Amino acid sequence: MNIRRLTVDDLSRLRQMWKENWGDEFVVAHRVIYYPDTLDGFIAFDGDEWVGEITYAFSGNDCEIVSLDSLREGQGIGTKLINAVVEEARERNCKRVFLITTNDNLNALGFYQKRGFELVKINRGAVNESRKIKPSISLIGENNIPLRDEIELEMILKV
Ligand SMILES: CC(C)(COP(=O)(O)OP(=O)(O)OC[C@H]1O[C@@H](n2cnc3c(N)ncnc32)[C@H](O)[C@@H]1OP(=O)(O)O)[C@@H](O)C(=O)NCCC(=O)NCCS
Repeated sequence: MNIRRLTVDDLSRLRQMWKENWGDEFVVAHRVIYYPDTLDGFIAFDGDEWVGEITYAFSGNDCEIVSLDSLREGQGIGTKLINAVVEEARERNCKRVFLITTNDNLNALGFYQKRGFELVKINRGAVNESRKIKPSISLIGENNIPLRDEIELEMILKV
């Protein structure tokens, strides 16, 4: 498995992947709608097959991870994609990398914390607001948990 940068030629495939994994061709976080063509990203691939993707956006001194998917879990793909973004954020002198996940995603909460991210904020009911923009967001999420809240995690980058 290798990783490479996302290019314009990848956008329709990425939109399709988001549709399959996240219910639509856009994602909503903290009331912002993100489309693939406005984001930077990396693709993890094995031959012609995509095995993961990560997208991110810079804003001021922040780098926000917008999406992360591994299609072969437990093989180091997620870690490799996160590391690529953190490295890029350091190169661009960002002060922090942050992301939003949801209250039901216990796997992601564990995954990020084990990789140096800390919980910083709970936006209670934020997913209920996102659902008004994106009705495909289900009421019950991972682990059979009601899907309601956004949880922000961050990694402060030391100079
Ligand atoms: C969260 C997610 C991205 C993790 O991706 P992943 O590719 O499974 O991540 P990794 O393989 O790097 O790490 C997962 C575990 O596998 C282990 N692992 C890594 N390489 C391994 C290998 N070669 N052999 C066995 N285990 C391995 C890691 O140690 C890790 O365990 P740990 O977290 O207890 O340390 C993935 O589960 C996913 O796509 N989830 C659905 C989408 C999602 O929730 N995205 C995040 C939304 S905010």
